[in-house]
Amino acid sequence: MQSASTLSLFALLVSAVGAVPDTRSFSLVPNTFPDFSACLSQPSVYSCENTTAIANTCCSPTPGGLVLQTQFWSTYTGLEKQGQKLPKGSWTIHGLWPDNCDGSFAQYCDLSRQYDPAPSPGVPPYTGPGVDTFILEFGRLDLLGLQYKYWISQGSANKDFWAHEFSKHATCTSTFDVACYGPSYKKNQDVINFFDAVIRAFHQYPTYDMLAAGGIVPSNKTSYSLSHIQNTLKAQTAALPYLGCTNNGTVLTEVWYFNHVYGTEQYGTFKTLDTTTPSTCSSTAPIWYYERTASSEHEVRILP
Ligand SMILES: *[C@@H]1O[C@H](CO)[C@@H](O)[C@H](O)[C@H]1NC(C)=O
Ligand SMILES: *[C@@H]1O[C@H](CO)[C@@H](O)[C@H](O)[C@H]1NC(C)=O
Ligand SMILES: *[C@@H]1O[C@H](CO)[C@@H](O)[C@H](O)[C@H]1NC(C)=O
Repeated sequence: MQSASTLSLFALLVSAVGAVPDTRSFSLVPNTFPDFSACLSQPSVYSCENTTAIANTCCSPTPGGLVLQTQFWSTYTGLEKQGQKLPKGSWTIHGLWPDNCDGSFAQYCDLSRQYDPAPSPGVPPYTGPGVDTFILEFGRLDLLGLQYKYWISQGSANKDFWAHEFSKHATCTSTFDVACYGPSYKKNQDVINFFDAVIRAFHQYPTYDMLAAGGIVPSNKTSYSLSHIQNTLKAQTAALPYLGCTNNGTVLTEVWYFNHVYGTEQYGTFKTLDTTTPSTCSSTAPIWYYERTASSEHEVRILP
């Protein structure tokens, strides 16, 4: 079953490219790195902790220096019939958001990079090719595979969700500004670079495993207290994340990890900080961390 679904993902990718990709695209992957050489002469500080002005905003996310790595726990996608399923043993990615140091935030900061087909009111919807085709143009089947495993939308196609996250949030993150890529900027290089950064940041916070280490596993029979969930995550990240619940604070659905970043958001070091937003989970009622329906999940970890 597992190798069959891996194969079908590959077949899907190949059919999306239109042909079996030239093997050279695996060894000569186009460069998507920004040109951060100018950052060598800049003082290094954690974002939001600078005591003088940050002159080159390619070198540190500014003003959005409070960086949130956000995740979902959902029990279904609504698009299971189309093969859009949840990764067994893992939470899923929501995004990587540039809050201002005071917790306020901007969105859709560059409408010339608007790829979101269903944006917020007032923002023109995008109707062009999906951002999945951008990834394929850079030969990054590896990245696309990780996104299809871990960056899952509820109720819409994954590629539309990725586009939404890029255009709403990454366009407000200064280290992904087009100018940071230098004169040899290739169209959509910033999009690929952001997607890589999202996957990297997500892997720093394996919520499923961190909760399981504290004895907190999905269950439809046993509930947990908010303090047990908070203390378990705090014990492993050294900071209190935001926890989001639905159903009047009783069903766990979200976690947000707050950070300052030393260096760029792409490659810098994340320092985990306490949430600036109070939890929407009840501190008194039992919290449910529901098991997913078996048909909504699939195996994503390749076993030896
Ligand atoms: C940090 O840098 C930003 C961007 O240059 C600037 O607006 C802010 O005033 C700086 N903070 C301090 C305390 O100097
Ligand atoms: C929601 O939770 C609060 C506090 O636990 C409780 O007082 C209230 O009755 C609940 N509301 C509903 C609709 O269950
Ligand atoms: C657990 O409960 C949730 C919420 O009611 C439901 O969606 C899910 O299918 C249940 N899972 C199992 C394995 O019964």
